[in-house]
Amino acid sequence: MRAIEISSFGAPEVLRLVERPRPVPAKGEVLIRVAASGVNRPDVIQRQGHYAPPPGASDIPGLEIAGVVEAGDLSGDNPFGIAIGDPVCALLAGGGYAEFAAGPLVQCLPVPKGLSLVEAAALPETFFTVWSNVFDRGGLGRGAQGKDETLLVQGGSSGIGVTAIQFARALGHRVFATAGSDEKCRACEALGAEVAINYRTQDFVEIVKARTQGRGVDVILDMVAGDYVPRELNALAEDGRLVLIATLGGAKGQVDFGQVMRRRLIVTGSTLRPRPVEFKAQVARALHRTIWPLVESGRIRPVIHSVFPASDAARAHALMESSAHIGKIVLTWD
Ligand SMILES: NC(=O)c1ccc[n+]([C@@H]2O[C@H](COP(=O)([O-])OP(=O)(O)OC[C@H]3O[C@@H](n4cnc5c(N)ncnc54)[C@H](OP(=O)(O)O)[C@@H]3O)[C@@H](O)[C@H]2O)c1
Repeated sequence: MRAIEISSFGAPEVLRLVERPRPVPAKGEVLIRVAASGVNRPDVIQRQGHYAPPPGASDIPGLEIAGVVEAGDLSGDNPFGIAIGDPVCALLAGGGYAEFAAGPLVQCLPVPKGLSLVEAAALPETFFTVWSNVFDRGGLGRGAQGKDETLLVQGGSSGIGVTAIQFARALGHRVFATAGSDEKCRACEALGAEVAINYRTQDFVEIVKARTQGRGVDVILDMVAGDYVPRELNALAEDGRLVLIATLGGAKGQVDFGQVMRRRLIVTGSTLRPRPVEFKAQVARALHRTIWPLVESGRIRPVIHSVFPASDAARAHALMESSAHIGKIVLTWD
């Protein structure tokens, strides 16, 4: 099969189209003929040599795909009744930039009605990440304010951001977002953010406080960290939760723990890729139950900025690194 490998760590050009043997599905896994592979920032970080695949995962990058089930073990837990020949999208721990990929059956979901395989390939990584961090870990909606709880999404125009804004809005929450340009801010508002804040020219703490009558927001989803953290604690309401999913602005920052105690704040975070299959299976069920109907009704939609043939993976990565995109970038296999 054809695959894109990381020939050595470095610039986008290190991505090479090569021939590799087809993966062999293990017990509980299926082999998928891949139509499209989603591109995510973690793939870029892996290519740069800063994000090794977890033990046992393929060295080929790629955390999400959509395609058709070709073969595999369907005898075990099969929550969505998937059969050979069915179109699916799947969350992977690696190996997605290839014509064939193997992964656990419980991490495959049926392609939502009305979506193409290219659109479906843009769902798994951000959908699993946002669900498990904003709703499970951050508990949006489970706090004292219930449905009235509010969310601030940092990096609102990222692949993660466009998903987080839409999920929270579709489930009835007020959402604020930040982004690095006015154009990106308008895109966040079109997706349902009540107001999007250009972090280069405006202060998100001030604006979020003004919009919430000085109270602050209940949950913040953040990929920046560093010197954002003390400002984020100021922007949280009492009992608020800060959920970190990346440290693009640096892994270290100064925190006033007195404020954490006085205002009962929670600082937490997680990384999806190394979590066990059983955890991902639970998230898949929750997404299928709560989010899939909203995708099928058109309330939540994939936001795709660009589609490249897989042989142009280097161009796709260069685009992601430029941060000119709004939403997702997808590779296709013909
Ligand atoms: N923990 C997990 O399980 C998990 C899973 C998936 C992804 N992630 C992380 O989530 C992040 C988003 O992933 P993605 O695939 O959606 O990538 P993406 O589309 O490339 O988004 C990256 C975003 O980061 C924003 N950004 C970069 N530096 C910033 C800064 N200093 N201040 C504010 N915003 C900044 C950029 O916005 P502007 O261009 O507007 O600045 C851009 O929208 C990545 O860091 C990724 O590693 C974590």
